[in-house]
Amino acid sequence: MYGLVNNLLSGTLRAQYGEDVWQSIAARLPFDATYFVSMKPYPDEWSYAMVGAACELTGDSAGDLLRVVGHRWVSENSAGEYKDLFTLNGPDIFTFLSNLNSMHAALGNQMPGLKPPSFMVNRENEQVIRVRYFSTRAGLAPLVTGLLEGLCDFFAEPATVSQTRLRVDERDYDEFRIERKA
Ligand code: HEM
Repeated sequence: MYGLVNNLLSGTLRAQYGEDVWQSIAARLPFDATYFVSMKPYPDEWSYAMVGAACELTGDSAGDLLRVVGHRWVSENSAGEYKDLFTLNGPDIFTFLSNLNSMHAALGNQMPGLKPPSFMVNRENEQVIRVRYFSTRAGLAPLVTGLLEGLCDFFAEPATVSQTRLRVDERDYDEFRIERKA
């Protein structure tokens, strides 16, 4: 995945476990994880290896960790270089999610070979949004849960996010339910 994702991953591991544990995680990796060039693609295996090494060392589950990464993905990107994308594609979570495919497609113009996920978004009623997530990659559904929770926080729309369907292969999809808190 692109370096900006790996930098976000390493930044989350540092923030979550502290510098010493991060150094031990990095020492287990068969590549240099000190810094990734944001606009350069790296093998997906590297991202999975970072999560795997962190889980081995700390005993945390990949699911819990990816969820934390999702939260940080929103808080970091909405405050940094990409903050305009959050305001331009809002002003609410439903509108933002409906614009997510074109947002990733636009990013792909500057990122050759980008393999972004895609989303189908439906409003079931005033309280409930359903999100279908399609990806060429396996195992990232908990990341999406964290991202959706992070977006609820960002748009100040308190809600519960749950996964309602697990995909069986890459032609299938995961589904999530965002239920607004009364
Ligand atoms: C401005 C904010 C964002 C930027 C700059 C961004 C950019 C990217 C980039 C560069 C990748 C890596 C793809 C690759 O290397 O092939 C990616 C993957 C991904 N993005 Fe976004 N993204 C943003 C927001 C979001 C949001 C809000 C969601 C919410 C659901 C999301 C969902 C994902 C997921 C789940 C992946 C993992 C790859 C996969 O599922 O196959 N992104 N994004």
